[in-house]
Amino acid sequence: MNTAEIKQTAKERFQGTCRVCRICDGRACAGEMPGMGGIGTGSSFIANVEALAAIKLNLRTIHNASEPDIGFELFGHELSMPVLAAPVAGVRLNMGGTVPEADFVMAMIGGSKAAGSVGMTGDGPGKVVYGTGIDVIKANGGQGIPIVKPRLAEDIVTRIRQAEEVGAWAVGVDVDAVGIIGMVRAGESVGPKTVEAWQKIIAATDLPFILKGIMSVDDARAAVEAGAAAIVVSNHGGRVLDHTPGTADVLPEIAEAVGENMLVLADGGVRSGTDVLKMLALGANAVLVGRPLAIAAMGGEAEGVTAVLNQYADQLRSAMILTGCASLAEIDESILFCR
Ligand SMILES: Cc1cc2nc3c(=O)[nH]c(=O)nc-3n(C[C@H](O)[C@H](O)[C@H](O)COP(=O)(O)O)c2cc1C
Repeated sequence: MNTAEIKQTAKERFQGTCRVCRICDGRACAGEMPGMGGIGTGSSFIANVEALAAIKLNLRTIHNASEPDIGFELFGHELSMPVLAAPVAGVRLNMGGTVPEADFVMAMIGGSKAAGSVGMTGDGPGKVVYGTGIDVIKANGGQGIPIVKPRLAEDIVTRIRQAEEVGAWAVGVDVDAVGIIGMVRAGESVGPKTVEAWQKIIAATDLPFILKGIMSVDDARAAVEAGAAAIVVSNHGGRVLDHTPGTADVLPEIAEAVGENMLVLADGGVRSGTDVLKMLALGANAVLVGRPLAIAAMGGEAEGVTAVLNQYADQLRSAMILTGCASLAEIDESILFCR
């Protein structure tokens, strides 16, 4: 199955909820929530893509970086690439209703595993969405990371226990979902918490803990204080608050502030291996990809997800050769063009 076939099949299965645009930039789907778009004007989704597009790379070819190593270690596990599948949930609500949630999540998690990487699963109103992710992670021998909504503390801990039982690699909470419309409409309790409250929740598990949805240095420092092992610099693909900056705009100062103390992951608008390279140069240790892998899962199941991840890996290797980086550790801001 080639990319064009995957996209064509995805387009049919999305039933208009995603146009599968040539460039997935949040313009055609602006405001479409439920759906695949960004909230309101779509500006936060669009800003993610624009922030990455604005970054130019220094082409360097006189060196000996001919076989770049893109292996990445995540919480003691060796990954083939620093590219992970982001949690994408609510398939029935957001993606046209033609593909069952379990099949979609299986494609994301199984496809990532087959590529030598790992995927995350999401959460939504009720117990089914999170439970589906847990079942799929179990079926994949624990190779997955469930992300819980910022629910009441006891409800988060219940879900952490489920993650532990299936041997998940880590667990996390998308803290940027504190006011997410779908949960609020469904009458589910989500809301912000203090550093002290996070300290208690994080101390309740031995699993590495991820706080996803960090967009400020203050929140990143609070995540360190709370005991998180990693953060994801993310605005939820522009789906929670209109008019935020792009994630690539805020990543450098966040990575600078906390990069020594924790793993810094980032997502939002990553559309190629070259975008992965840019995020790494801005200070991320690894990136998450959302919509492009969701399209691959809809149109090509696990095979589609594996194919797109491998394409990103090939593009990353090529971009590293062309910027003179032999390893991920060698990628830094010196490869970025500054006037
Ligand atoms: C339809 C949809 C559902 C999502 N569900 C979740 C979720 O349940 N939990 C979560 O942490 N993030 C969720 N996200 C956000 C993604 O994990 C990720 O942050 C975002 O999609 C990255 O941007 P990108 O799609 O431009 O790559 C969702 C995104 C989309 C498009």
